[in-house]
Amino acid sequence: MESIKVVSPSSVANVSCGFDILGICLDHTGDEMLIKKSKIPGLRILKINGADISTKIEKNVAGIAAKSYLKKYPSRFGFEIEIIKKVSVGSGLGSSASSAVAAVYGINYLLERNIKKIDLINHAVVGEAYASGQAHADNIAPTMFGGFTLVRDLSSLDILKLPYPNDIYITIIHPEIEIKTSMVREITNKKISMNKVIKQTANLGGLISGLYSNNYELISRCLVDEIVEEYRAELIPDYYLLKESAIKNGALGCGISGSGPSIFSMSKGKETALKVKIGFEEIFSNNKIKFKTFISKINNEGVKVIER
Ligand code: HSE
Repeated sequence: MESIKVVSPSSVANVSCGFDILGICLDHTGDEMLIKKSKIPGLRILKINGADISTKIEKNVAGIAAKSYLKKYPSRFGFEIEIIKKVSVGSGLGSSASSAVAAVYGINYLLERNIKKIDLINHAVVGEAYASGQAHADNIAPTMFGGFTLVRDLSSLDILKLPYPNDIYITIIHPEIEIKTSMVREITNKKISMNKVIKQTANLGGLISGLYSNNYELISRCLVDEIVEEYRAELIPDYYLLKESAIKNGALGCGISGSGPSIFSMSKGKETALKVKIGFEEIFSNNKIKFKTFISKINNEGVKVIER
C-alpha cells in the first residue's frame, strides 16, 4: 500500500450527564485525510482544504498526534498528508478528535501494523490535548470505535462501547460562531458541590441503565447536565429557547454538544428528530448568526478507510 484515504467522523461529547467521559459518533460528516508513504523521512502536511489552520506539524492536531504515534512506533518511511476538514473547527462536534484519529489510524493502517485501535487512543489524545489544553478522550473514543462510548479511565485505556436503542436519532444545530474548547474549559473549571456530583452520577448511572434496557423514558430523565451547562449556555445564542423547543417537539433530551456552540438533541425516531430540526430552524432564523442543522443516526463504525 502506498497511500490511503480515511474518513474520521464527527461526534457529540459529554451527552449532558457524562462530562469528559461520554461520546456519540455521528454518521453525518467527518474529516477526510489522504496519507501517502514517502521515501523522504519525516511528516509533512502538504495541504489543508476547508479550514484556515497551520500545516506545521507541531501546530496541527493531526501532525502532533501522528508525531506521537511515530515516536512510539518508528517507521523508515516518511508521510505526506492532505487534510479535507469537514468538521468545522470550534463547532463542538469533535473537530480536533476527528483529525487526530484520522492521522494515527491512517498511518497505522498504511503501515499494515497489527496495533489495535485502543493502543492508538493515547496518540490521538496528545493531539486533542494540544487543541483543548487538557487530555480527554470523549470525542476521540467514539470517533475511533464508533457508537456510544464511555471513557471509564483514560490512563489505563479502560474504554467501553455502550449499547443503545436502534431508534435513536440525533438532531444538531450548529450556530456558526467559534468557541475555543481551551477557553471554555477554563471558565468551567470550577469547584462543584457534592449535591451536584450526586445528581450527575445518578443521571449517568440511570442513562447507562436506560441504554442497556432500551428504556427511552429513563434515558430522557437522565439527559441532564448538572456541571457545565450553566456556565457555557450563556455563550450560545438562544440556547435555552432551542432546548425548550426540542423538548416541546418531543425530544428525549437536549444539551450542549461538547464545548459548543453546537447543540444536540436526542429523539426516539426520525419523525421527532425532524420536528426538532424544524423547531431549531424556526427559532434560529430570527438570529443574524448563520447556522446549519442536520439529523444523524449513531455511526457504529467510527473511523474507516475509504480509498487505497
Ligand atoms: N468534554 C470536553 C469539554 C469536550 O466539554 O470540554 C470538548 O473537547
